Amino acid sequence: MEDHQPQSVRVERRPVSERESRRANGPDWDRYADEYQATHGAFLGDAGFVWGPEGHTEDELRVLGDVTGLDVLEVGSGAGQCSRWVRTHGGRGIGLDLSHRQLQHSLRLDAETGVAVPSVRATATALPFASGSFDVVFCSFGALQFVSEIDTAVAETARVLRPGGRFAFSVTHPTRWMFPDDPGEPGLTATQSYWDRTPYVEVDDATGVVSYVEHHRTLGDWVRLLAGHRFRLTDLVEPEWPADHDRVWGGWSRTRGVLTPGTAIFVAHLPD
Ligand SMILES: C[S@@+](CC[C@H](N)C(=O)[O-])C[C@H]1O[C@@H](n2cnc3c(N)ncnc32)[C@H](O)[C@@H]1O
Repeated sequence: MEDHQPQSVRVERRPVSERESRRANGPDWDRYADEYQATHGAFLGDAGFVWGPEGHTEDELRVLGDVTGLDVLEVGSGAGQCSRWVRTHGGRGIGLDLSHRQLQHSLRLDAETGVAVPSVRATATALPFASGSFDVVFCSFGALQFVSEIDTAVAETARVLRPGGRFAFSVTHPTRWMFPDDPGEPGLTATQSYWDRTPYVEVDDATGVVSYVEHHRTLGDWVRLLAGHRFRLTDLVEPEWPADHDRVWGGWSRTRGVLTPGTAIFVAHLPD
């Protein structure tokens, strides 16, 4: 549902395994990274923290709270903009991403800003850290909607967090999956079932290989997932479309944003 589609692809809804999702999404983000950073880099800010296409920042929403002195892991960190913000606010931000090319952009921004984000190439379903390493784990439209084995990803998050740790993540608002991914009027008419979890898949026309995958979970699925790993859901932020915001990002636009939520930010805590 991103605005990438560099090659000629056909869109399908069908089941895809974790292996297939990862094999598609890593190379897809490698191919797309240069264009993604060129298109959205200025909006994100080299050391900025934006929670979604509506443009709400962590400075505004305060979803993570005070990060001073905390160990903070960003999963699906891309070029590390958010983790760089964490570092400039006193936290020990670490990045993790599946895409080599996204991480090269992170290195580039480390050099350009002078704020380095130590980062690792890995997947959300196998976090290469000891148990209890972090006070906060977060994703800003990071890995979670690209992962098939979401139960494993949430279990891994719970494992690397310390008691009382915070998990905060933004994803495409689950209600958006009912609508075509179109920023205009056609994107306002529900055409598919909210309860249809069949993944969105792009298949390369030339090779027949799956080239991109996104997974849908309903609001109830997310609550159940978090509760199943002992998280207590403490907030669900549904940012409203700002009055002065006219940027179109993929299927996100003012036309749709003033009527229906585009982003959901879940905030959850482990017991002390
Ligand atoms: C929409 S970008 C968001 C990146 C960053 N938060 C931002 O706002 O620019 C999604 C990122 O998730 C990464 N990603 C996708 N699947 C992943 C996985 N299984 N594990 C870790 N990262 C993944 C992609 O490589 C990409 O950099």
